[in-house]
Amino acid sequence: MKEAMQRLREASIQAILESDSPDSLENLRVKYLGKKGELTAILRQMGKLSAEERPAMGQLANQLRGDIEASIEKRRAELNEAMLAKKLEREALDVTMPGEKPQLGHKHPMYNVLDQIKEIFIGMGFEIVDGPEVELADYNFTKLNIDEGHPSREWTDTFYFTEDSRILLRTQTSPMQIHAMEAKELPIRMIAPGRVYRKDEVDATHSPMFHQIEGMVIDKGVTMSDLKATLNLVVEKIYGKGTVTRFRPHHFPFTEPSCEMDIQCHKCGGKGCPTCKGEGWIEVLGAGMVHPKVLAGCGIDPDVYSGWAFGMGLERLAMGEYKITDLRLIFENDVRFLEQF
Ligand code: PHE
Repeated sequence: MKEAMQRLREASIQAILESDSPDSLENLRVKYLGKKGELTAILRQMGKLSAEERPAMGQLANQLRGDIEASIEKRRAELNEAMLAKKLEREALDVTMPGEKPQLGHKHPMYNVLDQIKEIFIGMGFEIVDGPEVELADYNFTKLNIDEGHPSREWTDTFYFTEDSRILLRTQTSPMQIHAMEAKELPIRMIAPGRVYRKDEVDATHSPMFHQIEGMVIDKGVTMSDLKATLNLVVEKIYGKGTVTRFRPHHFPFTEPSCEMDIQCHKCGGKGCPTCKGEGWIEVLGAGMVHPKVLAGCGIDPDVYSGWAFGMGLERLAMGEYKITDLRLIFENDVRFLEQF
């Protein structure tokens, strides 16, 4: 029996040393130490031994089991280490190799114009604010002094979400005036750029979605001359020093007085050309002094505070700046168009 154990020891250690994978090691463990393994087979013959011989043989068998287990573990560790080394080698990364340069695009031309305008207003101490495109009719109309029955509230002009005409897609950024007055500490200097929606058919100058920039100042002693001076400065920054503006009387329900601002055509200097459609002037924005009723509705005392506001179309500005003749090009995202800027 002793000899059998010695043979088992030699054979198993040899086989374990030669094994080359965790699977084959496991097979060897079952083969030698398993329930139906070779060591168990030898131990079955213990019954034939005398009572004096048994303890010594038992001890030998235990020692053999321990040794085989130990050499399996040792081999397993060696194999694991070798596998890890191989894996590291396979996955090694040469960080000195030149990388692949991703092809970067650039900002949309209209957003370049928006960035430029933001910069100008930030430089004058204005804050840039953002607000909901899905809006309450209260904010888009009522609080702006646009009563029930006003034509712009018609279902033919405005996208409504609810039968009761309570929720809509904002038709202008002017509701941001109300949000700012309700939420902010006075004085306020803000611009609010964003998308607006109207039921317009798509053509070269119309789209059911376009962008406006709202601007507003509320403080003590603010006058129409502040409005004119500020807008003149902005226009000179965009179109160059000496750009001529004119302010024409107009009507908006939420400003009083109201006006529209034109710039003298920078292409023909006012003589009339295709850019200004022969007019000599290009309409840029609507503006005015915030209506006392609107101030009061937002909890601001119109006897103490006053303010001005303007709203301008961003697409039109970008079209002027980049000489784009068709509004649709701005939204179609045709790379051949966008690459030109
Ligand atoms: N919201 C107006 C429009 O869409 C523009 C405007 C804004 C006029 C602010 C006056 C003051 O036409």
